[in-house]
Amino acid sequence: MIRNSILWVCLVFISSATWAQQPTTLTVETQSNTLVFQTDAQNHLRTIYFGKRLKNKEELALIETQNNQRDVNTGIYNSIYTPSGSWNMLEPALNIVHADGNASTDLIYQSINTLKENEDVTLTTILLKDPVYQTEVKIFLKAYFQEDVIEQWTEIKNTEKAPITLQKYASANLYLNAQKFYLTHYLGAWGREMRPEETALTGGIKVIDSKLGTRTNLYEPPTFMLSFNKPSEEDQGDILLGTLGWSGNFKIDFEVDSYHNLRVIAGINPHASAYPLASNTVFKTPSFIYTLSHQGKGFASRNLHRWARKYRILDGTGERLTLLNNWEATYFDFDQQKITNLFKDGKKLGVDLFLLDDGWFANKYPRNDDTAGLGDWEENRKKLPDGLGYLVKEAQKTGIKFGIWLEPEMVNPRSELYEKHPDWVVKQPQRPEHYFRNQLVLDLSNPQVQDYVFGVVDKLFTKNPGLAFIKWDCNAVTFNAHSAYLQARGESQGKFYVEYIKGLYSVLERIRVKYPKIPMMLCSGGGGRVDYEALKYFTEFWPSDNTEPLERIFIQWNYSHYFPAVATCNHVTDWGKQPLKFRTDVAMMGKLGFDIVVEHLSKDDLVFGQLAIENYNKLKNIIWQGEQYRLVDPYKNDIASLMYVDENQSKAIMFNYLVSNRFELTATPRAIQLKGLNPNKRYKIEEINLYANTPSTLNSSLILSGDFLMTVGYNPEVNDKRTSVILTINEVK
Ligand code: GLA
Repeated sequence: MIRNSILWVCLVFISSATWAQQPTTLTVETQSNTLVFQTDAQNHLRTIYFGKRLKNKEELALIETQNNQRDVNTGIYNSIYTPSGSWNMLEPALNIVHADGNASTDLIYQSINTLKENEDVTLTTILLKDPVYQTEVKIFLKAYFQEDVIEQWTEIKNTEKAPITLQKYASANLYLNAQKFYLTHYLGAWGREMRPEETALTGGIKVIDSKLGTRTNLYEPPTFMLSFNKPSEEDQGDILLGTLGWSGNFKIDFEVDSYHNLRVIAGINPHASAYPLASNTVFKTPSFIYTLSHQGKGFASRNLHRWARKYRILDGTGERLTLLNNWEATYFDFDQQKITNLFKDGKKLGVDLFLLDDGWFANKYPRNDDTAGLGDWEENRKKLPDGLGYLVKEAQKTGIKFGIWLEPEMVNPRSELYEKHPDWVVKQPQRPEHYFRNQLVLDLSNPQVQDYVFGVVDKLFTKNPGLAFIKWDCNAVTFNAHSAYLQARGESQGKFYVEYIKGLYSVLERIRVKYPKIPMMLCSGGGGRVDYEALKYFTEFWPSDNTEPLERIFIQWNYSHYFPAVATCNHVTDWGKQPLKFRTDVAMMGKLGFDIVVEHLSKDDLVFGQLAIENYNKLKNIIWQGEQYRLVDPYKNDIASLMYVDENQSKAIMFNYLVSNRFELTATPRAIQLKGLNPNKRYKIEEINLYANTPSTLNSSLILSGDFLMTVGYNPEVNDKRTSVILTINEVK
């Protein structure tokens, strides 16, 4: 028997070796890059090149002759999608247990299909098949030509007669060539989101992952940067930005092989997620989104921003609303009168919308703090006797829009929802409940729960058609992951984490079908959930509850590498000791909002706030839709500086902030070289957002060429008296 199977394996090997006559070479192209795949003698498809665009197609097949990427000991290093249990010995992208219990898979190239969706977007589909089990794997590569972005995902089809189990099912498996790789990844924590760490990768595997279920980014976001050959630089060098579009557990392996090439395997975290796939069904992995730049991280970020605005973020090229939020102004302590007064404050300040935060709901267990009421989404009659409808109308009368906070995925044990539906709650049946912010997660793998969550939102909009904004929060991580629903149906708990996120997306999809345009903010106890799949449904996200403006400069700086300003909500609050001007100037570098008590503002502060909003309204389109250039890195300097330039290079805005209080620092020591302007145009530079008519120290009659501004630079004179300086740069004809 054993001898027979050895003979059979040899036959398969020999016969497959004779399949390939000539190697097949496949390419995916974007404006700056070419990605090349090639078959080997056994028809395994391998990544042989990802780098600068190659001009001569006929030379592509020769790349292999120049690089050593095949290892005889370990199978191949550079499989387009590395299977396990057969010839491959390295970290797999795919690990399947077949219906008969066998855990071996081999993937053989079958065919390619290329579909040009439009001038910019081309979808390439590559079909691979296991010769023994007939399992089908389709690799999808969507190339956004102008943006240099590739979106990659996989479909795994079970063609067997019974279920198979997916043990590992990555979205993408890249193979990169360089002397050395530097990985920047980010640590999370409440109030300390997106803290970068750059590290040189050495042989072996470095993993970034999260297993927190909901609110994954609280530990680490699925977002990273790779710099080739040297640590990352703003405007030079080869940089890959990568991010997984998945709001749940993820795992990204960075394996430096024995030739010092890098294998990147990104996807859903296999942790506790062995996924049974029924016969004749297809599993679609989330998208892994990446861009490769040869001009540093600035160029890479701009590509990703453009892609995100055009193709991904809901209404990415549309309008946004400035707002006044009451979270820090009132916390849970408010009533109808207080709120309607705040509308007037919002109007006085000049914002577009008032956002009513947590605490407006629940009656049997009123939501007066975070220990009760979550799940009971009816207006609290004591606080809001006339309901939300009244507030919507009052706001409209005041000339301001009205939006509310929701956290529909969660429940407090002290709530009517929990009493009615204990089986809707995620918890281990035999273990005590374990709370995060006194709450538990609802089981979104259960379609009834999905209906309920959709119903919460739908009812709010149906009852209050004037409702203009939702802040969708998600404060708890998923402790004691277990679904009573899956258990009752005899289904594997291995599906839970995945089905939860799919359930969430399905609810969001239903919301968007019915309410396509309503702006929604993606929030998760700060920035616990920020990714490009969720952002299909949201117009913006909340980066962090930390609004201390110095801290915020760094947080926003880090997010700016991956997410455009139009989606990054920044609120002016009372955190920290910085003056209102500094706080507002910092918030203006993204989507501006306020969370302050307007009536506590001094006269000068109020006038400044009003002026800042007026200025913002004039400039917001450049900030939201312009190209972003990071000029001075606050991690390496005493100031931070960045700018946005409009499409025609005729209007720009530059933000400068002092980030150090060192005594010796009296002024910006030297000029800052601007970027992104037209060298042949002439520009007038003016300082705006001046507090209480304090005159600017800058000469506003100076007209300088783009060439001068980008070569010699301009000194915004940031110093301890001028801790933030905003400049407009306008073409003079
Ligand atoms: C989370 C959010 C905050 C606020 C509170 C309300 O922490 O990040 O902005 O909405 O919830 O409970």
